[in-house]
Amino acid sequence: MTFETKRDVLNWYEAQPASLTAEFRSTIDWTSVRKYPFDKRFVPVLFYMRDVESLTDMYYRELKRTPTGRDPDIRKFMARWGEEEMVHGEILDRFLNELGYETSKTWHEGVRSSVSRFYKAHAYAITTLTNLIGTKFTATHMVFGAINEMTTGQAYRALMKKADHPILTKLLRAILREESLHTNFYASVARLELKRHPMSRKLARFVIDHFWEPVGGGALGRERSDYAIAQLFGDEEGRRSIDASVTQRLAGFPGFAGITTINETAEKCIRTGRLVDMNARYAAA
Ligand SMILES: [Fe+2]
Ligand SMILES: [Fe+2]
Repeated sequence: MTFETKRDVLNWYEAQPASLTAEFRSTIDWTSVRKYPFDKRFVPVLFYMRDVESLTDMYYRELKRTPTGRDPDIRKFMARWGEEEMVHGEILDRFLNELGYETSKTWHEGVRSSVSRFYKAHAYAITTLTNLIGTKFTATHMVFGAINEMTTGQAYRALMKKADHPILTKLLRAILREESLHTNFYASVARLELKRHPMSRKLARFVIDHFWEPVGGGALGRERSDYAIAQLFGDEEGRRSIDASVTQRLAGFPGFAGITTINETAEKCIRTGRLVDMNARYAAA
């Protein structure tokens, strides 16, 4: 799929149906969740994914303060994107509840307040800096978005396969359909923006090479993100999926030939994540 303008990408996105509709949700047999075995080592992974999804509105709020967020086409995409990610968080929370892990009704607020003041101040400073750079930073934002969506998609695929729980599989398949639309939006706009100006390409490549980190790690703590990465990608198949479905795809973006950062960072996360013991943190009711 190739697009000429951001508006074309937006029009394509808006023509795509949502997957997690009320109708779809009414077909989920929540009462059967506990009938199937579920490996406990994936419980902290589910909590992590739920929290990353629910932090989307924090990122969205920050982005709205930048020229990227003021772009009318991107803003329109982000309004629907933000809502869809929140629903993903809600669905994962419900699944955890049905599995026997009680969560409070105000769990969103708990997640938000657990994000450190340092992280919030840091995000605020970055946003202010990007305002000085202006619209040439949009390519960087879009590449970040594309990588986040691609890695999230691969994470859900890995979880689906490894956890092998029929109801979770049904939920994740629907979530994945939306994640792949998000990926396509970000990746398509990123390509257009990178093509526009050599400065946009240089900046995006520099920022990804030096500052990229897995989504949620900065806000929720590296321990949790490293643990999830080690569980999902810490084998040959996991490494291959990161390389084939993230790195190689990214290497086709203008200015991103030969990129190695994602594979290298994932490798470091796997190494540290293997040593993290999360089991005591999440107890079933
Ligand atoms: Fe999501
Ligand atoms: Fe997404």
